[in-house]
Amino acid sequence: MTEKSTQSVVITIDGPAGVGKSTAARGLARRLGAAFLDTGAMYRAVTLAAVERGIDPSDTAAVESLMETRRFEFCPQGDLTRVWIDGADKTAAIREPHLTEQVRHIAAAAPLRARLVQMQRAFAADARRVVTEGRDQGTVVFPDAAVKIFLTADPTERARRRHSELRAAGKDVSLDAVLTGQQQRDAADESRTVGPLKPAQDAAIVDTTHLTAEQVIDQLESLVRGRIHG
Ligand code: DC
Repeated sequence: MTEKSTQSVVITIDGPAGVGKSTAARGLARRLGAAFLDTGAMYRAVTLAAVERGIDPSDTAAVESLMETRRFEFCPQGDLTRVWIDGADKTAAIREPHLTEQVRHIAAAAPLRARLVQMQRAFAADARRVVTEGRDQGTVVFPDAAVKIFLTADPTERARRRHSELRAAGKDVSLDAVLTGQQQRDAADESRTVGPLKPAQDAAIVDTTHLTAEQVIDQLESLVRGRIHG
């Protein structure tokens, strides 16, 4: 790749829940020798930190001061993003369905988003290349990213994928419940005024409905290599 030595090369992957962003972003990062940033894990970790302290996630001021006192660490490992809060491993806890439902309060709060955006930019500034995934990476966080990708997929297929992941993790949850939760999250993601889910104008849209994870990664890799030469 042709890269300026002082500036990180950023590749953003945005899209709705269950579209396969994490798997695609992680696989792409591995192939490109890039760092990987799972921004959803950050929103989840802040939510958990609040809930653990008995703070209502919709109390933005209280969550904001809590963010200053707790230490968050994120580290990609295999197919997971390991998360620690004050040194305690919270990797599994941030994925619990009841926690997932509460993340929308953090995601809709402008001051909290601003802090997380700052952390995401700092992470990218430290890496030579980074693949970052979320909802607002191409639109708000990295408007000058080298390549922007927006993943879509049929909602029923997305719910089916998330359902299998939850079942594989031993969670007894019905496909209907997953689909209903997903519709609520999609609506919240698309309608919030700060950092809403939407493709950047210059994003490449990739529909993953009929693709395997490996095929998605192949497609993204050729897209990126076609745009960033060397
Ligand atoms: O990608 P995920 O399911 O782990 O994301 C969890 C929640 O965090 C999701 O409901 C929306 C929110 N989120 C966000 O608002 N902005 C991001 N960049 C990433 C996630």
